[in-house]
Amino acid sequence: MAVAINPVDWGLQALAFVPMEYPTILGTDIAGEVVEVGSACSRLKTGDRVVGLATGFYSGRNCDHAFQKYPVVPEDFASGIPDSVSFEQAAVLPLGLFTAAVGLFQKDQLGLDLPSINPKPTGMTLLVWGGSSSVGSNAIQLALAAGYEVFTTCSKKNFEFVKRLGASQAFDYNDDNVVAQIVEALNGKSMPGIFDAIGEAAAIGFHGAVERCVEVASRSNCVKFIASAQRVPENLQGGDVEVKFIYPQRSDSELGKAIFGEFLPDALAKGKFIPAPDPEVVGHGLESVQVGLDSWRKGISAKKVVVGL
Ligand SMILES: NC(=O)c1ccc[n+]([C@@H]2O[C@H](COP(=O)([O-])OP(=O)(O)OC[C@H]3O[C@@H](n4cnc5c(N)ncnc54)[C@H](OP(=O)(O)O)[C@@H]3O)[C@@H](O)[C@H]2O)c1
Repeated sequence: MAVAINPVDWGLQALAFVPMEYPTILGTDIAGEVVEVGSACSRLKTGDRVVGLATGFYSGRNCDHAFQKYPVVPEDFASGIPDSVSFEQAAVLPLGLFTAAVGLFQKDQLGLDLPSINPKPTGMTLLVWGGSSSVGSNAIQLALAAGYEVFTTCSKKNFEFVKRLGASQAFDYNDDNVVAQIVEALNGKSMPGIFDAIGEAAAIGFHGAVERCVEVASRSNCVKFIASAQRVPENLQGGDVEVKFIYPQRSDSELGKAIFGEFLPDALAKGKFIPAPDPEVVGHGLESVQVGLDSWRKGISAKKVVVGL
């Protein structure tokens, strides 16, 4: 019923940065109704309203990609959604949510305790760099649900937005003094590391985020570890602050189950997690997917480009 556009879709189409067989199908984020279940499915049934992460990027099978009418989605990466959440709203979730979950909860990443709808405060603070992005909006909410206070960065115009998601303090990354401001605000607090939702990606205009995260980690009482949404630039490899690329995989099904199977359905139903950022629906029908890709390429701020089917 709805699909969302992610940077990776544009990257694969425009840059073909991994080997692909043509013709190919792209897409990771879908929301719709279950039309058929496999024999190993136990949680979801035909007719359920669901949101899911299409895993074709990992499997290489065309049937597993999102931009088609009947994609196949592993049950571990799909959640039932309540009637109060529209398909267009739900479609913003999958890749942003799961990328955030891998960076926050995988043992070889930040390794935080799993989220719950009644979190126990840890007394610690997490910095999420880029809270108005899709990955960042999910990271803020998941970190809160894991019991952390959250500081974040975004443009000034999005301060209200990230605070609505639960961040206690927001800093403008366009300000030359942003690192000093964050380090001062973190005085007396302890941090389990930093979540960089932006990373270094010159091709899509993201620049300087991870360097600033390294500076904050070096100058504050922070575990010297950064989970970064992009590959680690060479100049930041092997330094005092470890920076690790978040790479969600099809084999992460235990975490998939914990997030899509256990946490998300209940959290959505109880209003403890909101699909964010808001969808910007740019068209309808599969023929509008290209409109979606072109529209994403023009740049977005605290929105997710969505196509209704
Ligand atoms: N590792 C993975 O598997 C994986 C999966 C998904 C995405 N990613 C990567 O994660 C990054 C984010 O993806 P996305 O889909 O979440 O992006 P997005 O929603 O398209 O990002 C747009 C947002 O980025 C913010 N932003 C841009 N530059 C920034 C900076 N230097 N510091 C802080 N915020 C900045 C903007 O904030 P303002 O509008 O407030 O200025 C804007 O709201 C991309 O690099 C993407 O390729 C990786």
